[in-house]
Amino acid sequence: MYRTKIIATGSYVPERVLTNFELEKMVDTSDDWIRSRTGIRERRISAESEATSDLGAAAANEAIKKAGMKPEQIDLILVATITPDMFFPSTACFIQDKIGAKNSAAFDILAACSGFIYGLSIADSYIRTGAFKNILLLGAETLTKITDWKDRNTCVLFGDAAGAVLLRGEQGEAGILSTHLYSDGSFSGLLNLPGGGSRNPTSANTVRQGLHFIKMNGNETFKVAVRSLEQACRDALSNNGLDASQIDLFIPHQANYRIIQAVVSRLAFPLEKVYLNLEVYGNTSAASIPLALDQAVASERVKTNDLILLSSFGGGMTWASAVIRW
Ligand code: ACO
Repeated sequence: MYRTKIIATGSYVPERVLTNFELEKMVDTSDDWIRSRTGIRERRISAESEATSDLGAAAANEAIKKAGMKPEQIDLILVATITPDMFFPSTACFIQDKIGAKNSAAFDILAACSGFIYGLSIADSYIRTGAFKNILLLGAETLTKITDWKDRNTCVLFGDAAGAVLLRGEQGEAGILSTHLYSDGSFSGLLNLPGGGSRNPTSANTVRQGLHFIKMNGNETFKVAVRSLEQACRDALSNNGLDASQIDLFIPHQANYRIIQAVVSRLAFPLEKVYLNLEVYGNTSAASIPLALDQAVASERVKTNDLILLSSFGGGMTWASAVIRW
């Protein structure tokens, strides 16, 4: 069996912690409301001088070090993000330069919170077809830079982080067993950033209207998220002839504790086998799963031969799942 294996992980979170109590002083909200509706207590905020590629490069360097590789050995860098340093060049190119991966191709993936699993699928295909050998995949976000700090509906949810994995093809049972990708553009109005693109080019007017900030219909997003996560998980399990009891660790997108709880209960999945860190990081979009994976590995929640289920949803709408044997 030749499979795409995750050979090392890394992550980075900014130093600055923003608590719910601090948010109480910024908008009409309360620690109690945020914790009971989302499960979030605090989140990390990038410094003014920190862009997404700075977070990504730190996570990448950690993964490269753990793998005992040289940056020059990387053939491709993929970065899943909705908060690129700039429209272009890609954040992947900025990271390539920062880490000295001189021999790699580089591009970004835009699938919102599902971007990391979309990236796993792309990397898996490239590796199994022989197009690329060593791939660095990142989910990296500075969502707090596109957050409207006057909008209590959204500003309590997001945080900044980066997670990285190094992927390589190897003989054996361990590796990516399957990936499952979905999207439905008819839901694009639920969650978006309307300003700055070709639909509403940046102008004094778009800035005045705050169109450069995330807009979200939280309630509708919640309902679609539960349905789509459940479907993605069921497809991933049935595709591999597994039932939920055979999964050792479930790492869902860390958006909202109540969404995770609803999905887990629909799947009759034990909560003890679910990896959760949203309480201290909030929703970090594409960085959410690789950050959680790196921390799960570091804390030995993941052991050789374990079956891991990943699942995510986000703007698009996009949703996705993957099964990995560690
Ligand atoms: N503090 C206090 N009250 C608030 C806050 C707040 N921070 N935010 C909203 N409210 C109020 C609302 O105004 C509303 O008041 P009203 O009834 O007087 O109108 C009330 O609380 C209830 O609002 P709902 O939107 O119904 O609250 P809900 O229980 O749905 O929780 C939440 C809101 C947390 C946003 C939830 O809907 C959610 O998590 N949705 C999913 C969001 C998500 O996961 N997005 C992921 C994708 S992110 C990406 O792709 C980048």
